[in-house]
Amino acid sequence: MLQQLASLLLIALQVFQGSVFGLVDQTNLGGNLYLVNRTYRLSENYIPPDLVTLQVRRASGNIKMRSEAAGMLEKLFEEAAKNGHQLVAVSGFRSYETQRLIYRRKIRTTGSEDKARLWVAPPGASEHQLGLAIDLGRKSSNNLNASFGKSKEGQWVRENAHRFGFILRYQSRWTDITGYADEPWHFRYVGVEHAAVIFERDIPLETYIRELSEIMFGELYSNAD
Ligand code: DAL
Ligand code: ZN
Repeated sequence: MLQQLASLLLIALQVFQGSVFGLVDQTNLGGNLYLVNRTYRLSENYIPPDLVTLQVRRASGNIKMRSEAAGMLEKLFEEAAKNGHQLVAVSGFRSYETQRLIYRRKIRTTGSEDKARLWVAPPGASEHQLGLAIDLGRKSSNNLNASFGKSKEGQWVRENAHRFGFILRYQSRWTDITGYADEPWHFRYVGVEHAAVIFERDIPLETYIRELSEIMFGELYSNAD
């Protein structure tokens, strides 16, 4: 417990010192620690600055992520291959407009917005627009469904993604907090240091960011009145 608190404090200090404020600054604690969800949304015009095409096996031609995340994903794929797992990148960066189309299609196929919103973020509320999220499949199946989580490839990624800065973002036991159902295929890049703590503590990004904010700003808030 003390060790966890110490690593949180250390990270909080690093984050505080290295804060990068940009277009989505209200949702960013620094580095890659942007929080994007139904509460914290991106503007229609937001496009990440340094998108590159992924140089890994892809389900379709041109899948992009932000440069740092793309480089780390390539390393993740290499390590997976060394361990006998052939991964496939299925969906990376999605523009606001693409997300809007996917959301609409999900409403059509599920028959209601309440059902659709368990699986697909409304436009502006998706981490895919950040260029820091990736949906993964395996060579024998690109399908984004529960079978990926049960496969040996899916289990390997779940246990190892944090070593490359990625976290498993949505789990059914966190639905009350994240708003989404189980998505064993959706990984989010946050950087190796944050990912290590989030993996170890087994908590959703919302909880981690809230705790970090309390450590960083709690005293300021409590002195404010
Ligand atoms: N499927 C995730 C929640 C997204 O649409 O961003
Ligand atoms: Zn996804």
